[in-house]
Amino acid sequence: MSKMEKIGRADIQIGDQTMACPLYEGTEGEKALDIGALRKETGLITYDPGFMNTGSCSSDVTFIDGEKGILRYRGYDVDDLAENCEFVEVAYLLIHGSLPTAEQKARYSDLLNKHSMIHEDMREFFSHYPEHSHPMAVLSAMAVSLSSFYPELGENHKEDLDMTVTRLLSKLRTIAAFSYKKSIGDPAVYPQHDLKYCENFLNMMFNSPVIENPYNQTMVSALNKLLIIHADHEQNCSASVVRAVGSSGANLYASISAGICALWGPLHGGANQHVIEMLEGIQAEGGDIDKVIEKAKNKRSPFRLMGFGHRVYKSYDPRAKIAKALCKEVIASTNKHDPLLDIAMELEEKALADPYFIERGLYPNVDFYTGLTYREMGIPTNMFTVMFAIGRLPGWIAQFMEMKKDPQGRIARPRQIYTGPNARKVIPIDKR
Ligand code: CMC
Repeated sequence: MSKMEKIGRADIQIGDQTMACPLYEGTEGEKALDIGALRKETGLITYDPGFMNTGSCSSDVTFIDGEKGILRYRGYDVDDLAENCEFVEVAYLLIHGSLPTAEQKARYSDLLNKHSMIHEDMREFFSHYPEHSHPMAVLSAMAVSLSSFYPELGENHKEDLDMTVTRLLSKLRTIAAFSYKKSIGDPAVYPQHDLKYCENFLNMMFNSPVIENPYNQTMVSALNKLLIIHADHEQNCSASVVRAVGSSGANLYASISAGICALWGPLHGGANQHVIEMLEGIQAEGGDIDKVIEKAKNKRSPFRLMGFGHRVYKSYDPRAKIAKALCKEVIASTNKHDPLLDIAMELEEKALADPYFIERGLYPNVDFYTGLTYREMGIPTNMFTVMFAIGRLPGWIAQFMEMKKDPQGRIARPRQIYTGPNARKVIPIDKR
């Protein structure tokens, strides 16, 4: 791994002390200053809240150019992959480093199929969550529970790790669907050997003895593409969490479970649920879009336009473009009209013409249109982030595996600048 090249050095001047720092460059020209010896040589640490400028690792997996709106997995543009591949191929690409041949894909799909059931005792768990549990809480708990039913196999044997990875990829989708069926009181629908990954999921979610054709092939194709656009996004919050948890030696299931929790937050993957809630709110209040834009711009209000803005993209998120097109396709396939799409498009148009959003480079992100598309498929709003998690899983796994193989790898352990009280003595309780 790591084709990071040393391209010279830069001197940092601290008082009268000069420290020479190696300079590195990645394969797409991103340059970095290596301050690994900073504390040892100068006694200083760096201060970078939110890791705005901190490279935590080198990585071969995903490249983003936020200014140009480029996203590539292992060198392939995300739109090329979404157009020409199924999600399973992209999962294979992220995890194994190359696209599968037809034979490899068939073998992989077969393996995913074989491992798609969950232990029957695990189904019992669903009965013990309160009725209104958030599906992300259930997903995270079930993901870590897999480690007791299917202990992680020896990391030193490639085949064993492949098996753990395959189990996780296959079973997380089954867990998500079972949890939905349980929440609506329907009987579980088991995975079927003759259905591919995405269709199998939709079938487990929606198949019912009393509903005819609960999904169509446009939805199957759209789901493949949606999961592809979610599949990785380099060192985002949840991927960094997966790496950090894994860096302590915790197993893959535990690390993924932590990643699911990180994704849940409204500033990360949870935004897709909040976008729909925001659009529904606008609709309920008579469609006053200007009012919402003003509220988002008001610095005294904590409200933000959900599905807008991104730490890395300062131009249109390439995933949002794909999601917008998919949303229209899925709506057309159902012959329905969704007024929320009209509201979303008007909101986008008005925000993109507003100086506040222009000056700050705030564009729709992946979450702006994905929720609307999931909604058209019949997926309930509180499961949108679960869909994101299913899509992001191969990326988390690829990041975890890369972290494990990194010869520079160490436990993730940032430092801090302490600002609390200085040393003091405990006053006995009767004198406080
Ligand atoms: N609405 C209104 N103002 C915004 C928004 C927004 N959605 N996003 C950023 N800003 C403003 C922010 O107030 C700040 O203004 P100022 O410079 O005047 O203080 C400026 O833009 C820069 O924002 P920031 O908070 O410093 O940027 P960040 O990189 O720390 O945050 C973000 C990125 C995604 C958390 C943020 O844009 C946001 O909260 N967006 C809404 C939530 C959302 O859609 N999240 C999904 C992200 S994409 C999928 C994923 O990562 O999972």
